Amino acid sequence: MLVKKAIFPVAGLGTRFLPATKAQPKEMLPVVDKPLIQYAVEEAYNAGVREMIFVTGRHKRPIEDHFDMTFELEVALEQAGKAELLDVVRSVKPHDMECIYVRQAQALGLGHAVLCGQRLVGSEPFAVLLADDLMVGSPPVLKQMVDQFSEWRASILAVQEVPPEHTRRYGIVDGTPVNDRLVDVNRIVEKPAPENAPSRLGVAGRYILTPGVFHEIASQPRGVGGEIQLTDGIASLLRREKVFAYRYEGRRYDCGSKEGWLQANVELALSHPEVGASFRSYLGGLTL
Ligand code: UTP
Repeated sequence: MLVKKAIFPVAGLGTRFLPATKAQPKEMLPVVDKPLIQYAVEEAYNAGVREMIFVTGRHKRPIEDHFDMTFELEVALEQAGKAELLDVVRSVKPHDMECIYVRQAQALGLGHAVLCGQRLVGSEPFAVLLADDLMVGSPPVLKQMVDQFSEWRASILAVQEVPPEHTRRYGIVDGTPVNDRLVDVNRIVEKPAPENAPSRLGVAGRYILTPGVFHEIASQPRGVGGEIQLTDGIASLLRREKVFAYRYEGRRYDCGSKEGWLQANVELALSHPEVGASFRSYLGGLTL
């Protein structure tokens, strides 16, 4: 069975990045020359996903505009003979990719945002990508997870080792190792204090979930922070179905935080075909 649909929850308030996110979505913050949401959509597309479901809220129109056709811009670039830029603009939304928008009226939490996509997903397995986690991997991290899903036919959560003092920032999983990269999950806890964390394996913003999770989320009371948590829905799903945690191969930048976003900009700029070499020599000349 293939994963054809992905939910992008983009209705959060982005308070950690104020004032930049006061009137624009954090998912539109650029890293070098591309908005965060485009990195995530490209990752999903490269993993075979063709139906992109955005769960949006107030101030999120720039995301819809970004994936829409920009007729005037395309005509202007065509008339100016700027073929390369025209390709850049057109490649944002390939012809065989569909973008669908659904509104989360109130930011009641990530679990609630995912639930808003239920009717569009229906009874298929689906991916969830949090665009503020920028993932760089080869093959792309979601592709690695789709491959795992094809083998195990069960929900797959992307995980990484996190420092003990950071467990409060993540859903933390525990379970039985299946191999070097895979853990058969038997427990998941949202944002535990270090002394209560069952392990140091923190969930990153990539999931492949079976549709059974919707029913589990819908029956959750509000959890940590008064929000309807995706982690709590997954914890209930665990009682009925297998869930695996997958140690992805690659690098994650937490672009919802200023530091992570700055690191992503520096590292991706250094390997950028257009500006990489000159940026490297600029950095080399800085006296720190
Ligand atoms: P975060 O926990 O990063 O929350 O959400 P946030 O509001 O976006 O940012 P901060 O913490 O205030 O700075 C994780 C992901 O879930 C989405 C966010 O858009 C982000 O991609 N989300 C969160 C929703 O779509 N709806 C919600 O109600 C909560």
